[in-house]
This record gives sequence, C-alpha cells and structure tokens, in this order.
Amino acid sequence: MKVIVYYYSSTGNTKLAVNYLKNHIRNAEIKLCNIATEEVESPDEYDIVGFSSFTEYLGPPTLMKRFIGSLNPVSSKPAFVLNTYAGFNGSTQIEFAKQVEARGYKVILGYSLKTPMNYPPMKRKGKHAENAPSLIDIEEFNLFINKIDDTIIRIKNTEDLKSIFGAFSLKKFIPSMSRSKVKKDFGIQQISKEQCVKCGNCVKVCAYQAIKMIPYPQVDHSKCNGCWACYNQCPKQAIHTKSFKGDNQYKGPSQELINKLS
Ligand SMILES: Cc1cc2nc3c(=O)[nH]c(=O)nc-3n(C[C@H](O)[C@H](O)[C@H](O)COP(=O)(O)O)c2cc1C
Ligand code: SF4
Ligand code: SF4
Repeated sequence: MKVIVYYYSSTGNTKLAVNYLKNHIRNAEIKLCNIATEEVESPDEYDIVGFSSFTEYLGPPTLMKRFIGSLNPVSSKPAFVLNTYAGFNGSTQIEFAKQVEARGYKVILGYSLKTPMNYPPMKRKGKHAENAPSLIDIEEFNLFINKIDDTIIRIKNTEDLKSIFGAFSLKKFIPSMSRSKVKKDFGIQQISKEQCVKCGNCVKVCAYQAIKMIPYPQVDHSKCNGCWACYNQCPKQAIHTKSFKGDNQYKGPSQELINKLS
C-alpha cells in the first residue's frame, strides 16, 4: 500500500504536521512531496493521496488550489486532507476536500490541526496561539492518524470502498476571502536597502516566484500572492509594508512545537 502526501508549508508548521503523520502511520510507507520546492511526482502509483496545507484567509492557499487544479482527473481514488490553522479555520477543510473531489478523488478523512499563528497582523493583535496544539489537539490528531491507518488496512483487505467513502461529509462551508482582499490587506512591500544584506532568502521562500535579486530583491506584484512568507522570513526585517516594518514576524516553529510534533 503506497501513500503520497502533497504539502505546502509557508513557515514550517504544516511541514512538522506532515512529518508527524509520516512518523506515526504504521500500516504504509508515506512519501511526502513539497509542492513548492520539489519536483512533483505523479499520484498514479499511489493507492491513497493526502493533501496538506495551512489556512490562508479562511481557505486553502492559492498555491495548493492551483496544484490540485493541475492534477489529471482520476476515478474515485481515496484521499485525505489535513490543514494547520491558528485561530479560525473557516472553510479550509471543506473547500480543500471539494477541490480534491472535483478532480475525481474521494475524500475519506479530514483534520485541521491548530498551530501557532504566522500571520503578522493577527500576531500584532496578540493572537499568537503560541501554545497550540494542546494535548487534546494532539490526541485528536493521533485519532485522525489511527483512522488513516485503519482505512489502509480496510483497503488492503479489499473491503467495499463505498462503506469507507461514506465517512467524510462535505458540510456547508463559508467561502474563503477573495484574492483581491488578501492582496489589499498585505499592500505593496518595500525593501529597505539600509537593512537588506542581499542574502536571497526572500527569493527562496517565495512559492510564487515573485521575487528576483537585481541586485536587491525586486517584487513582481502581478505574481505576488500576499502570503507574508518573505516578510516573515527576512533575517534583517528589511521587508516592509505600509503599516508593518518588520515587527511580529513568524520565523518558524519553536523548539517546543518541534518537541510536541516529533
Ligand atoms: C496570509 C495568511 C493568512 C492566514 N489566515 C488564517 C486564517 O484565516 N485563519 C487561521 O486560523 N489562520 C490563518 N493563518 C495562520 C496559518 O494558517 C497558521 O499559522 C499555519 O499553521 C501556518 O502554517 P505554515 O507554517 O505551514 O505555513 C494565516 C496565515 C497567513 C500567512
Ligand atoms: S531576505 Fe531580507 S535581507 Fe535577505 S535579500 Fe531578502 S530582503 Fe534582503
Ligand atoms: S513576494 Fe508575495 S507571494 Fe512572494 S513570499 Fe512575498 S508576499 Fe508571498
């Protein structure tokens, strides 16, 4: 039984979550594939396909939506969705599942794991969620992983897939925010030449290939998705927006979070 999990993580929380999943599944080998940085392998050879990312303005991020939309249609291949979020999950899980199902997959399970906040405007408001996930959240996450394990066994035993497919319901959902609102919230970023050391990290972390070094970073605003990854991960706080001058960055999981999800 082969399982592949396609994931996208802007600052590392989702990456930790999928690694945790990989390390705790007992009944199958899990292949992880980072859709932002790795060559993407076809899902054809896999029996179950996982999709994992984070909540971005109440829904799945643009990069993940584009990726799902680019997949070849399949016929009822079992899938699961997993997302991290930091306060209000909105429609992420359901929207995610609907998109996956639109490509012909059958979503059998979904889980949303609460993790620390990486969105600077919410951090500024004091909504850090820094202690997430709680022990109860981790217990629930373990239950989700156990259910995937059970499903793997049931599929191995060639149980009628229809009974497995009944488990996940696509409930009513609140639509996520429009891209134009997202971009407007982020605004136009400026690079402070006094602070920038031309390290190129912003280019590396931009999953939308919107930044080029010439010789300072220059942003192609038609490609920028307003995801805050460059802002969060600039080591010199050199990326500024109209109201944010490098404060409230989220540079990645703390040691405490790494310990919890290992
Ligand atoms: C642009 C942006 C928008 C976000 N919107 C939401 C949101 O609507 N609801 C929420 O609970 N968390 C939101 N978050 C927080 C992330 O979902 C959360 O911190 C997640 O764990 C980050 O995962 P990553 O480290 O894998 O990128 C947002 C983060 C960013 C950067
Ligand atoms: S990450 Fe910051 S310091 Fe490094 S090149 Fe980009 S703006 Fe400059
Ligand atoms: S340039 Fe835009 S899309 Fe790229 S990391 Fe920065 S905010 Fe995200």
